[in-house]
This record gives sequence, structure tokens and C-alpha cells, in this order.
Amino acid sequence: MTGRSPSKVALFTAIVVSTVCIFLVVGTLLLFHVPLDLFQITSFSILFFFASWLVIHKSLQRFIYDKIKLIFRNMHSLSVDRNAFKLDMSKDVLGDVNKEVVDWAEDRMAEIEDLREKENFRKEFVGNVAHELKTPIFSIQGYILTLLEGALEDPNFNRKFLLKAAKSVDRMTMLIEDLDTITQFESGNLQLEREKSDIVELTKEVIEQREEEAKLKNITISLSKNYDKPIFVDADSFRISQVLINLINNSIKYGSIDGNIIIRFFDMDERILVEVEDDGPGIDEEHIPRLFERFYRVDKSRSRHQGGTGLGLAICKHIIEGHEQSISVRSEVGKGSVFSFTLAKA
Ligand SMILES: Nc1ncnc2c1ncn2[C@@H]1O[C@H](COP(=O)(O)OP(=O)(O)OP(=O)(O)O)[C@@H](O)[C@H]1O
Ligand SMILES: [Mg+2]
Repeated sequence: MTGRSPSKVALFTAIVVSTVCIFLVVGTLLLFHVPLDLFQITSFSILFFFASWLVIHKSLQRFIYDKIKLIFRNMHSLSVDRNAFKLDMSKDVLGDVNKEVVDWAEDRMAEIEDLREKENFRKEFVGNVAHELKTPIFSIQGYILTLLEGALEDPNFNRKFLLKAAKSVDRMTMLIEDLDTITQFESGNLQLEREKSDIVELTKEVIEQREEEAKLKNITISLSKNYDKPIFVDADSFRISQVLINLINNSIKYGSIDGNIIIRFFDMDERILVEVEDDGPGIDEEHIPRLFERFYRVDKSRSRHQGGTGLGLAICKHIIEGHEQSISVRSEVGKGSVFSFTLAKA
């Protein structure tokens, strides 16, 4: 019946039923020699037609209403009372209901898909956290056991093992702090304190802070030119320092010995583009799309060995996106990497 209005169906059925009835009644009466004139036959026909139309129309309406009410009740888990739900018998009611059910099912499917994705994401995340915590916990356990088994009394080893255990505790603390930052960003609890900040000044401070570490690998960190005038941006200076620290730290950690790290600023109308370039080993193209994911590492054992949690770039992305700006990377294996992000001018 989909595609046709119930009123039309009732009309058609009433014509068929009343015609059959007229034939039967008139036939029977004629069989028993009851005389009938044309006026009586016409009156009978009209009477039969209206009676059957009324009965069929009302029954159909009742039937459809009850069925649809059930469907809607199951779909929306609410009681649909007769007044709230009016049937317009002149329309293609079943076609409309069919469309609504299909739309509803599609929405539910999309919701289920979304929940499934989130569930997978959650499982993967919990698995990653457990994996990251396992390494430092096992090494702390190992050092403590060795100390308890006698190394505690050995002045050549006791301090060394305690220092190593302390390093693992630091690693765990770092991981918890990074996870806390990410969670706060994702739950929207972390408010950025944006103000007019000089990005040149901020970068110079970070360079000064990271120079000692860079020297260990004979890496030089510099600005591409002498920026003697301030460049003002609308940013949370503490958070942007965090981004610069992670980018510069990465360039030191993963960069080559005797390398160079160069930081540039570009004027882009309403924005400033900040670039951190290194001449390290670069990153293979296949890793680029996943680089900003939490816990993603290119060389897993190497970067874990460097003490990284694999959350640095994920935090950078959150910070930059929190400023309604973007962060990206371009890299060539054997030549180096350029990480860049934008900030609104102030
Ligand atoms: N400049 C770079 N050159 C080469 N590889 C890089 C560079 N920056 C990042 N990577 C790769 O991207 C991965 C992710 O970096 P990210 O900063 O998110 O984590 P991490 O440095 O391992 O740990 P964390 O920053 O939390 O201490 C790194 O493990 C490394 O493999
Ligand atoms: Mg990092």
C-alpha cells in the first residue's frame, strides 16, 4: 500500500465491495421474483457504497494508527497518544512512516558506528597507557629487588641503582602529567590564557633554555635572522612555550650530531607562521599522517630510549587547535624536518 494514500485505497475497496454486494443482493432478490425498479437499485448502490466506504475507511484508519503508534513508541520510547499523533488519511502515510523509520535507523547506525569507534579508541588508549607504565614500573621493581638482595650494602651500586629508579619515577611522572594535560584539553577544562605576547622574545627564552641540551650533541639552535623588533601574537605564552620546547626538544633528540636547528617567522596577513627546522634524519612519508596521534612514534624503541612518552606532538596539536590555529610537518628522509604552526597576530 506504500505509495498510495489510505483514502484512495478505502475508496477503491468500497467501490469493489459495494459493487459485489449490489450484484449479490439484486441477484438474490430477482431470483425470488421481488420486483425492483431503477430508483431502488440506485438507492441500494449508494447506500451500500457509503456504508462500506465508512466501515473500510474507519477500520483502515484504526488499523494503521495502531500499527504506526507501535512503531513510533518503539522508536522513540515514548507513549504517543491519539491527540499527539494525527493520521492524515489523504497522504501516503505508510510511505512517510517508512521514510522516517529508514532515517531513524540510519541515525542509530551512525551513532553505533561512532560509539564503536570511541570504544576502540578507548581500548587502544588504555592499552597504550598500560604499556607505557609497564616499562618504568618493571625497571623500578628490578632496581629495588637488586638493592634488597644485597646491592644496598655495596657503596659502588646502591646510589647508582637508586638514581636509576628515580629516573624511572621521573618518566612515570612525566607520562602522568602529559596524560593529565591531554585529558584536560579533551574535556574542555583547560582554559587558555590568551594575551598579547611577543613570539620573538618567547622563542629566544626557549632557545636559551634548551641550549645546554643541544650542546651535548653539538647542535646549534638559532633564529633565521636577527629579529630585532617584536612580533606580537594573540597567544597563551606558557602553552606556546610548551609547543616550542617540544618541537625544539624533538629536533635535538631525533636530530643528527653537529646539526642545526633554525627557527623562522613568516608574516601571513592575519597570522604569523612559526617554523622549526632541523637537518636530522627526517621522517618517512608513511608516518606523517599519524605523527600527531597520542603515543605514535616513528622509531618506537629509539624514541622510548630517549625518554619520550610519545604524547608531545599530540599536546602541541591540542594547544595550537585550542588557539583555533593549525600545526603541520613536512619532512624528507635524509634531509630533515620542518614543523610549523600558525598564530593570530595581536
Ligand atoms: N624533528 C624530528 N625528527 C625526526 N623524528 C621526529 C621529529 N619530531 C618527532 N619525531 C618523531 O615523532 C614521534 C612523536 O613525537 P612526540 O614529540 O609526539 O613524542 P616523543 O618525542 O617520542 O615523546 P615526548 O615528546 O612525549 O617526550 C617521535 O617519537 C619521533 O619518532
Ligand atoms: Mg617529543
